[in-house]
Amino acid sequence: MTKAVLGVIGGSGVYDLPGLEDVREERIDSPWGAPSDALRIGRIGETPVVFLPRHGRGHRLSPSGINYRANIDALKRAGVTDLVALSACGSFRQELYPGLFVLVDQFVDRTHGRASSFFGDGCVAHVSMAHPVGPALQARILAAAEAEEIAVRKNGTYVCMEGPQFSSYAESLTYKSLGYDVIGMTNMPEAKLAREAEITYATIAMVTDFDCWHPEHDAVEVSAVIAVARANAAKAARLVSRLARDFPAEHEPCPARSDRALEGAIITPPEH
Ligand code: ADE
Repeated sequence: MTKAVLGVIGGSGVYDLPGLEDVREERIDSPWGAPSDALRIGRIGETPVVFLPRHGRGHRLSPSGINYRANIDALKRAGVTDLVALSACGSFRQELYPGLFVLVDQFVDRTHGRASSFFGDGCVAHVSMAHPVGPALQARILAAAEAEEIAVRKNGTYVCMEGPQFSSYAESLTYKSLGYDVIGMTNMPEAKLAREAEITYATIAMVTDFDCWHPEHDAVEVSAVIAVARANAAKAARLVSRLARDFPAEHEPCPARSDRALEGAIITPPEH
């Protein structure tokens, strides 16, 4: 059984976690550099919760400027076992409308130039990313959303672009035709690093716009993303609060083996 510590990464529009009690702020030093902000460590109900705003308070860091390794390392050092990523996203489907939350279960990584592994410098590991989202964690998020009567869809593919510019029309149509469901700029390499750190990961992708493919909607602009993300933030806080309050103190190992991802993954023999 795993003693659970719930981590929450806040994305655009989510820079704080209302409902977090007994809060202390901790700046955790990481050998990978500085995390986006101090960790806010506290509890919701009986569950220990650690919050980190991905872009830093005041939204200072662009998706390419985030130190994803430092963030995941700091959360690991704080004891996080289960990590929920709150992320604004664009939608490629009519039925995934702004305001809806999508519990994606797959990622496509189109980022480049981001440090995306803890390994490689003298020690090589290849973890599985076949099932990047923890199914039990996802099921708990779904149950919390249902209990709070928050509209969610289960499953979907999130394509992560480098940004910071939004997609061109041709790119948007390409992603749509490839069957991707939503697009964002931050879940990769975050999900990969969480897996390497043996932290179970799940995303709540909060739809803010239809990117630029939709004939009846304007191309996405920051003002629209922020307006919807702000409206989403209160709902997200309610969902996370319920998730945390209902979270078991201990739970079974992850069915996707995310909590033991390094078993058999390190290829460099120990004597090297
Ligand atoms: N985040 C929110 N909306 C987005 C979009 N359309 N493309 C990339 N990232 C986003």
